Amino acid sequence: MASIDILLFFTAIYIRTVNTQAAFVNVECQAENVGQYGQQSLLQCVIKTTQDVADPEIRVVVWKKEGLEKQVKNNPLLLFNRGEMNLKPGYSFAEPSWNERNMNVSLLITNTAVEQEGDYTCSVITNSGDGSSSTSLKVTAKYNKPTIHSNPETIPLNTDVTLMCSSDGGYPKGQLRWFDENNMEWTKSSQMEAKPTEIGLFHLSSKLSLLKGSIFTKYTCKVFNASGDKEEEATFEVQHDVTPGSQKMEDLGPASKIVAPVVVIGSLIVGLLLALLIYRKRSQQVRRQSTTPLMGGHCVLTARAYDDGDLQERDKTCQVRLA
Ligand SMILES: *[C@@H]1O[C@H](CO)[C@@H](O)[C@H](O)[C@H]1NC(C)=O
Ligand SMILES: *[C@@H]1O[C@H](CO)[C@@H](O)[C@H](O)[C@H]1NC(C)=O
Repeated sequence: MASIDILLFFTAIYIRTVNTQAAFVNVECQAENVGQYGQQSLLQCVIKTTQDVADPEIRVVVWKKEGLEKQVKNNPLLLFNRGEMNLKPGYSFAEPSWNERNMNVSLLITNTAVEQEGDYTCSVITNSGDGSSSTSLKVTAKYNKPTIHSNPETIPLNTDVTLMCSSDGGYPKGQLRWFDENNMEWTKSSQMEAKPTEIGLFHLSSKLSLLKGSIFTKYTCKVFNASGDKEEEATFEVQHDVTPGSQKMEDLGPASKIVAPVVVIGSLIVGLLLALLIYRKRSQQVRRQSTTPLMGGHCVLTARAYDDGDLQERDKTCQVRLA
């Protein structure tokens, strides 16, 4: 029992010693670095030593990218090994005149590409211990100003229309959103597609369906980056094709919609006026004739108000009623 306790005690001391020794040298990296596509990117790492270490000297520095199995062992991005430097094209120490006494072991990527996004590790061996740490690179690229075109190209009145907006050159995946001239959002009536291009940047395209009769005159397509910030926008003005003879009568749209009711209502009014005129003329006749008061002649008077041809007939009805 006692011997096991002693063994555990010494194991604990051993582990502590190893840990403290490793703690003489620490590689400290910025957790996340952001690089612009096509620009220089910096993966920041520095070697920190405890105060006990006097005059530290770096023997080995290895920069590797995770997930690239082939290069991990044999072909790192950067290898400094006891005075010998091996660099893959496009990578170097960030410090221009780096030497084994410079504790800033940051890696510089000269022309950042999308495929360089990911996790990296930097391992060092010094005369007073080793250390290793990881850091990541996020790549961003700004989207270009969108372009908008319509299908059909010239918009006949009274037809459904599709507007297409596209923007490319951005990374990571962004979003295209639609707004009308009153800044009302129409993105829900649209369909967006994001396609990565060969170089990894995204091509965004969005189709907005507009139904005839509810088409605004201006539409704006805005491109938002992955963090939801607007980057660029473009505006499209809907211009209707009003070339005469290019459409059927019923396709003439708003103009015919106004003209047709005007004609119908106009003729109705004229008809009503005519009817009113005729009615007034007749009632005047009636009034003029009825001015002669005639005892018991009421029936005859009424009858006389009508056309001569009808007189006898009306008279008869009247006599029946009087009896
Ligand atoms: C390391 O060197 C790079 C390039 O000179 C510099 O931009 C960076 O700030 C340095 N980092 C530290 C922690 O000094
Ligand atoms: C989005 O744009 C804003 C403002 O320009 C910028 O600060 C942010 O880093 C961008 N995000 C991405 C993922 O590109």
